[in-house]
Amino acid sequence: MIGKLNHVAIATTDLEKAALVYRQTLGAKVSAPVDQPEHGVTTIFVELPGSKVELLSPLGANSPLANFLARNPGGGVHHLCFEVQDIHAARDRLLGEGARVLGEVKTGAHGKPVLFLHPKDFGGVLIELEQA
Ligand code: CO
Repeated sequence: MIGKLNHVAIATTDLEKAALVYRQTLGAKVSAPVDQPEHGVTTIFVELPGSKVELLSPLGANSPLANFLARNPGGGVHHLCFEVQDIHAARDRLLGEGARVLGEVKTGAHGKPVLFLHPKDFGGVLIELEQA
């Protein structure tokens, strides 16, 4: 069911520092920061051949990153995002498999429908599905 690894997301309290590591130390192409108030994050994308790294820092008081960064003050891998052809078919299949789906399908940071899956069902890693 899942296709390409769309991105790996890394949460950090210091977006500029994280971007500098990818731009300067690792020599990657790095986007400007973009505030995404509807998601409670600021994002920077690291462009890689065929995939991306998404650097995330909290934006506003109710950021979904707040708990993660409280547990991981130095930052860390926050989620993996896999592409699927049909997000609603994917959700129905996952519910049928007994997986915990977090909330409803909504529009993600790339303007496409996304869905999040509970880390406890996936080896401790939060999973995002994005309709390709
Ligand atoms: Co993501």
